[in-house]
Amino acid sequence: MDEIIFLNGDYINRENAKISIMDRGFLFGDGVYELIPIYKSKPFLIKKHLDRLHSSMSLIGMSDEHFFMQDFENIFNELIERNEYKDHFFYVHVTRGYQSTRNHVYDKKIQPTVLIMGEGYNIFSSEQIKRGFKGCTQEDFRWTKSHIKSISLLGNVLLKNYAAQQNFYETLLLRDAKLTEGSASNIFISKGDDIFTPSLGVDLLPGVTRDLLIELFSAENKVIHECDVTKSDLQQADEIWCTSSTNYCVPITELDGVKVGNGQVGDFSLQAYDLISRYISTI
Ligand code: PDD
Repeated sequence: MDEIIFLNGDYINRENAKISIMDRGFLFGDGVYELIPIYKSKPFLIKKHLDRLHSSMSLIGMSDEHFFMQDFENIFNELIERNEYKDHFFYVHVTRGYQSTRNHVYDKKIQPTVLIMGEGYNIFSSEQIKRGFKGCTQEDFRWTKSHIKSISLLGNVLLKNYAAQQNFYETLLLRDAKLTEGSASNIFISKGDDIFTPSLGVDLLPGVTRDLLIELFSAENKVIHECDVTKSDLQQADEIWCTSSTNYCVPITELDGVKVGNGQVGDFSLQAYDLISRYISTI
């Protein structure tokens, strides 16, 4: 089946979708994005994702006067219907738009380029989750506005590939010997009866899955400590896991060639995975 995508007001075949080389997203990486899971033909936590998109846009000085957030819901529904999506992802890409000359200074009057397309659904099985994954650490050399979901992902791409080249799942990022996040995920650790995750700020993305997991644990009367997590906390952790919309909870059982805790997927990691799976199954 030909896949239909949305580009600047039109529903078109993916193969026919084109943007200008003068688009500021192409020339400068000047734009923001979202990745939204679709479960059972329904976009997941749509309000949280659209609120974050709105926040990313305003943090880079893009107003939504040309494009209203409420339009997204109708577009999502149209694409789900036309493409018969059941379990899938939406990739939403909003750039500052087309500008006739290449200029670092943006023209405030240009219209954003809005692309929404489906992405394949390929998440880890529960057997893979129970076996655990390997990870590594690297200095977080990205910019200091990582709370913006920017399409300029070169730093994240290089850091993720550092892990991928070793057949690891994720690179965990350290700045000033403190954990920020993963190259494409947020990170949680446990020590004894406590669970910790770095507090929000400019160094990490306010992950929708991170937020959901904190809420789900809290409903079980388990408080997650949002605070600094140091390199040595990471090295001494009993458990480490990554959260993201693509693979909601991925346990790391070996970090930089050393076992995490006893090297097995631990109870909190499994509980986190179960809490999110159960939540998804009830929607
Ligand atoms: N990325 N931190 C970074 C740097 C990320 O790229 C992501 C997810 C997260 C987790 O956020 P959320 O739970 O809202 O998905 C944290 C998406 C999946 C991506 O870039 O494809």
